[in-house]
Amino acid sequence: MKTAIYPGSFDPVHNGHLDVIERATKICDRVIVAVAHNESKSELFSSEERVSLIEESTSKMNGVEVVSFEGLLVDFFRKTGADAVIRGLRAVSDFEYEFQMALMNRSLEEELETIFMVPSQETIYLSSRIVKEVAKLGGDIDGFVSTVVKDALVEKLGL
Ligand code: PNS
Repeated sequence: MKTAIYPGSFDPVHNGHLDVIERATKICDRVIVAVAHNESKSELFSSEERVSLIEESTSKMNGVEVVSFEGLLVDFFRKTGADAVIRGLRAVSDFEYEFQMALMNRSLEEELETIFMVPSQETIYLSSRIVKEVAKLGGDIDGFVSTVVKDALVEKLGL
């Protein structure tokens, strides 16, 4: 596969996301990590901050580009001419939402194929929401996020 888009909120990027990005680079020449503005979520980091945290966290990976987009994923997909969209699938609880999104995206754009990738066992339980909660309450987030993300969380949350 030539180009895949890996979209998400990434607020902030955690090691489960990084694991999926790394796996995606093994099957695609180019992985576009696309940071979305999600109306229904209140975001801790701005789009620019989320993009630069992903750029720094993936600096050693080949073939990764990080951009932000607004509006529908299908419009971004058409604009980039990508071959597929990648999503990480962690557990049964993700399935309904992911299935709904994949089918909605395909009904809006029949060329859009969604490929699900399973993160490593070590990172499968991670979510940005849980990482933020643990950090806020003083828990140790080493091993869940990259050093740059840890430092950014410490600064943003005033820890
Ligand atoms: O990391 P998330 O929050 O689960 O990612 C969800 C995301 C950003 C991929 C999804 O909300 C999305 O594609 N947003 C862009 C707007 C859009 O196309 N919405 C319709 C999706 S069916």
